Amino acid sequence: MHQLIKRKHLQPGMFVVSYGQGTFHSPLVRVAAHIFSPSQIDELVPADVEDVLIDTSGAMPLPLADRVPVGAPFSVEFGEELHIARKLYSDALDYVKTFVDGVRKGTDINLSQATALVDSFIESVFRNESAAVTLFKLRGFDEYTYTHSLNVSILAVLLGKHLGLDKAALLNLGLAGLLHDAGKARVPTEILNKPGRLTESEFEVVKIHPLESVKILRRQKDMPVEVLRAVLEHHERHDGSGYPQGLKGEAIGSLSRIIAVVDVYDALTSQRVYKEAMAPTKALGMMFQWRGQQFAAQDIDNFIRCIGVFPVGSFVRLSGGEFAVVSGINAQRPTRPEVKVVLDARMRPQLPRLLNLWVVEGTAEAQDIAEVLNPAEHKIDLEPFLSV
Ligand SMILES: [Fe+2]
Repeated sequence: MHQLIKRKHLQPGMFVVSYGQGTFHSPLVRVAAHIFSPSQIDELVPADVEDVLIDTSGAMPLPLADRVPVGAPFSVEFGEELHIARKLYSDALDYVKTFVDGVRKGTDINLSQATALVDSFIESVFRNESAAVTLFKLRGFDEYTYTHSLNVSILAVLLGKHLGLDKAALLNLGLAGLLHDAGKARVPTEILNKPGRLTESEFEVVKIHPLESVKILRRQKDMPVEVLRAVLEHHERHDGSGYPQGLKGEAIGSLSRIIAVVDVYDALTSQRVYKEAMAPTKALGMMFQWRGQQFAAQDIDNFIRCIGVFPVGSFVRLSGGEFAVVSGINAQRPTRPEVKVVLDARMRPQLPRLLNLWVVEGTAEAQDIAEVLNPAEHKIDLEPFLSV
């Protein structure tokens, strides 16, 4: 059923049919799109429009969690938060370096500092998810030991938020992500950075790290037991093939399963001394094949829904030939994210412009994502494009 309402009454969840009166001064503009976030209203309907036609039968019957896709609704704009998140990430990197190097020397972990850090990740993710996520996708590849802990922490908080966890659980998740591999400081670097397959005895050495992490963290008397459990179980697998306990299915804690999924995703999409980074889409495709085996199907589905088929920060070629960076996703239309077009078809920089692929679908501007590319292979640094 169609209904004419004031623009100021538009809300996420509504289906906008059109606006305008079909006159010369007020042409009829067909929108035919759902509103997913308050900030999106400005993109769909110009601010000077008074009345908007909505279809009340087309309102989204979405569960609450799905009304908060990555990128919306946020109190702070992407560019502004990117600025804050960049500073946050570099401060966090300094902390992690001190912490990892301290663990190697046997120093205790500063829990209050770690808690403050995770708190700031949580705040950043709540202000603008896309900025926090974009940042870690663009980080330098040379410091995996440090960046991996940060990425797992941020991603775990993001996934936890999508699952509707409360603040206390998010804090535990973020801490577990930050500290999960502390015990790797006790594994020789030749084994950790060995290209190719590990021998059985080398793998046995790697397998001690979750337990070593717990030993280190337990020395801190206020360390929450939920964090210890998630750290201990982050290599357990749904089908029982994991370590150190070989737990199966529901026996593995819910926070542990979140850390496990994001840990594997970050490892696959990171460049290491012995391997290239895998494109996010390819990594998600690979993890999808492990549904019901290494990971519970639901855990993988939740993660893909959270991060999107084309995660924020992915470098893509559009069907029209131009190149773009994914800047926001739409939980309902995962294959049609919002992108920032940054290079022309000959890879020459152009004035960045936002293109919402799901909004332009069916119009003359319609485009698809033709392929996902690895910016490193094309020697392109995307970060400067994101803040403009
Ligand atoms: Fe690990």
